[in-house]
Amino acid sequence: MNNSPIGVFDSGVGGLTVVREIIRELPEESIVYFGDTARVPYGSKSRETVTKYSRQIVRFLRSREVKAIVIACNTASAYALHEVAHDIDIPVIGVIEPGAKAADKVTQNGRIGIIATEGTVRSGTYEKVLKQINPNLKVFLKACPLFVPLVEEGWRYDSVTYEVADRYLNDIMMYDIDTLVLGCTHYPLIRRIIQKVAGDGVTLVNPAYETAKELAGVLYDNGIMAEQSVPEYRFYVSDSVKKFSSFAESILPCDVGHVERVNMEYNQGD
Ligand code: DGL
Repeated sequence: MNNSPIGVFDSGVGGLTVVREIIRELPEESIVYFGDTARVPYGSKSRETVTKYSRQIVRFLRSREVKAIVIACNTASAYALHEVAHDIDIPVIGVIEPGAKAADKVTQNGRIGIIATEGTVRSGTYEKVLKQINPNLKVFLKACPLFVPLVEEGWRYDSVTYEVADRYLNDIMMYDIDTLVLGCTHYPLIRRIIQKVAGDGVTLVNPAYETAKELAGVLYDNGIMAEQSVPEYRFYVSDSVKKFSSFAESILPCDVGHVERVNMEYNQGD
């Protein structure tokens, strides 16, 4: 048993989709969230840069005495999970493996689509992990960089978002996929539009939900689940608190209490 918080981080606000699922799955657990809102997006940055930022954030989270870390960002999970996990002695999980395992379970025809940021697509991590799970799977990737700004603009149910989704998904639907992984933090927030464009024959996989379930298993296996306690949620960002708080309030099932701005200059190193 351990009432220390779980550390969760992302390039910005998108990782709150993972926090939302963790709160639902593990309502007793406290959470410390870091959103790197000053340096978002990660999706267009290099492996080196994303890994460097991830290490800085992990150092910050460790200073908050977290008992486990969830890399909520798909791009950071794709590039930096192994480096970060190697550095520290507490459990670290990313969002890619849980999403990939679920996709393998769901698919009937073995043809899986992945939509994600350019960085996640370029990293090749989703294909690698899926092929390790099942070498017979056929994997098709498509970067959808406009989805992130559309979600952050609040156009979650907008006809423009529908048109953009239609244009992006057209390519990938030609491959006769029956499963589509929402491989970016923001995409679950436009899942209704994505489902409409992809059609009923395609099952959507939400890595945020799968990661929360995986986290529950990891906490249990390590004997570090919280005792019945009143959870605390603390949010840290590297830029404007106001913008973050209003986004968080629109998607979290709880009051967004403590939000604080952190100067990442103090947490730099390698
Ligand atoms: N959080 C990022 C991801 O899931 C999306 C936003 C960004 O590009 O930083 O890949």
